[in-house]
Amino acid sequence: MDSVENRINSLREEIRKHEYQYYVLDEPLISDAEYDALMQELIAFENEHPDLITTDSPTQRVGGQVADRFQKVTHRRPLLSLDNAFSEGDLREFNRRVGTAVIRPDYVVELKIDGVSIALVYEDGVLQTAATRGDGQVGEDVTANIKTVRTIPLRLPKSFPRLEVRGEIYLPKNEFLRLNAEKEEKGEKTFANPRNAAAGSLRQLDPTISSSRALSAFIYDITYIDGREILTQKEMLDFLGECGFPVNPEARYCSGIEEVYAYCEEYQEKRHSLPYEIDGVVVKLNSLADRQELGYTAKSPRWAIAYKFPPEEKETRLLEVEINVGRTGVVAPTAIMEPVFLAGTTVSRASLHNFDLVQDRDIRIGDMVLLHKAGDIIPEIIKPLVQYRTGQEIEITPPAACPACSSLVVRFEGEVAYRCENINCPARLKESLIFFASRDAMDIDGMGPAVIDQLVERDLVRKLDDLYALTEEQLSSLDRMGAKSAANLIQAIESSKSRPLHRLVTALGIRFIGGKSARTICEHIHSIDEFFTVQADELMQIPEIGPRMAESLVAFFKEKSNVATIESLKKAGLNTVAESKGPESQKLAGKTFVLTGTLPDLNRDEASEMIIAQGGRVSSSVSKKTDYVVAGSEPGSKYDKAFQLGITILDQAALLELLEA
Ligand code: IVH
Repeated sequence: MDSVENRINSLREEIRKHEYQYYVLDEPLISDAEYDALMQELIAFENEHPDLITTDSPTQRVGGQVADRFQKVTHRRPLLSLDNAFSEGDLREFNRRVGTAVIRPDYVVELKIDGVSIALVYEDGVLQTAATRGDGQVGEDVTANIKTVRTIPLRLPKSFPRLEVRGEIYLPKNEFLRLNAEKEEKGEKTFANPRNAAAGSLRQLDPTISSSRALSAFIYDITYIDGREILTQKEMLDFLGECGFPVNPEARYCSGIEEVYAYCEEYQEKRHSLPYEIDGVVVKLNSLADRQELGYTAKSPRWAIAYKFPPEEKETRLLEVEINVGRTGVVAPTAIMEPVFLAGTTVSRASLHNFDLVQDRDIRIGDMVLLHKAGDIIPEIIKPLVQYRTGQEIEITPPAACPACSSLVVRFEGEVAYRCENINCPARLKESLIFFASRDAMDIDGMGPAVIDQLVERDLVRKLDDLYALTEEQLSSLDRMGAKSAANLIQAIESSKSRPLHRLVTALGIRFIGGKSARTICEHIHSIDEFFTVQADELMQIPEIGPRMAESLVAFFKEKSNVATIESLKKAGLNTVAESKGPESQKLAGKTFVLTGTLPDLNRDEASEMIIAQGGRVSSSVSKKTDYVVAGSEPGSKYDKAFQLGITILDQAALLELLEA
């Protein structure tokens, strides 16, 4: 037993060291795979000895449990905020006031990180609570989420009975951009800036969400410590670094206000090249004893001040609006403006995101507009400056036709985006093809993004159905494609012709129609031709098919170019009728199955087909009515739910046995 405990402890120590190297110092000593292996070993030990799991174990970072709501935490010392300075004059005035109590003051200057203020409490070196600033007196307990922030140590190498620190949680600029791009893709509302994104992520009730967003932190203050005397801010920052906290590397000692101002000017320039957003510089009196002399006002210390950078906003003229089609068919407006220098670059274009936003902000062509950069990077129009209007400005309206292919543009209920409905639209052809050929659609083995890229670039494929006219010779002319792979690919294209109808319907990439709904629909609609004439209300008679799906299907089959494509696919010999034989047996009639995780040999579609062939039903969510949950590796929450409800859980072997019985 003792040796297991020792091994667990040394694993934890080693993992902590590597986390610090990787996340704080940016200097990993081992590969990701080696790190994962250590983590897996620890998880295995802890699974065997759950009594040895401690709250500060590295395995406990991604908490699985969802808190009901956040508890309130009263800060032991109020978390004050800072007075602001906006000019060199303000800074000199601050220095003069400090000078009335302190002879020749010296300072430490730090970047003012634009994030969310956080207070951390460690007891005997172990992180106990993490709380937001709240109103300064009472904050919210966000410990579970903070544990997912990998730069924050869960255990300190030095142990003190009690240590309280304060710092800033932030989302790096590149993470912010990634998160917003992801949100835009899903048609969700985007975050205005990294600070909002950090705050939003931190206040997620589900810690796995904050875990999936690479939040980071800088710690800059000790608000309480037992058993160690600290005399200056410089010493404090050094000590925080020794404790394994992430300390901002740009902090600098300044012997007087001249150096302080030079630092402010320097970082006003450099701010755009930093990987995180800052909104100013914090100037702190270095000596903690001298701070006592100056004391506090009701809200802020007299020994520190925040030098705020001027907001980066510029006025310019909106000249025209370009309408672009994205790779998923979203038709979106882009503003073309008179070029202005803003936050480090010359800007002449800005996405207007969608037409609702244009209407809400009442932006018109010819307007003078106020421009800023979201996340310090993405140019965005804040608002039109209506005081300059002449009456000549032109309203911006959504186009009726796609600017890339002139096809129908539609907007579905509940979405802000307008979309081009033509699967062959040149703007979205590559994406259409990648999806069409993918495993859950037509499953054309070997037809991946790299091949599709070349086919489109070389003009060998201009429409989806051109895939079926490709020759072996054409394919073997592609980069990294030998004669053998070309022959295999032709074979794979050939076999895709006999996929069931619902797979073809899935492969067309119709908005809101995934594999499962396509299957359901094709139990009622037995040939592709029927889709050309079916009405939305008829489709809505089918269980689980709502108005959004029905309208999307009808719009898709109305688009002329899609009709032509489907006719060509038929000519090429693709199966376009549903097998009418119905289930092979009724052995599983009345039984509902839910699939989760990855099965060793069967993909989800194959397993569903086998169940349905025996008269069973496949559903996507677990409820009391579920009879069996078929679980593969890495099952999701469905597995846990099944377990809780006491539903029979089958692995692949057990499923096959049931099917063959
Ligand atoms: S010191 C009593 N240092 O700016 C001293 N604050 O308006 C308290 N902030 O609420 C703060 N970077 O959230 C300090 N290097 C830094 C900072 C910083 C960002 C935030 C902090 C505070 C606000 C001050």
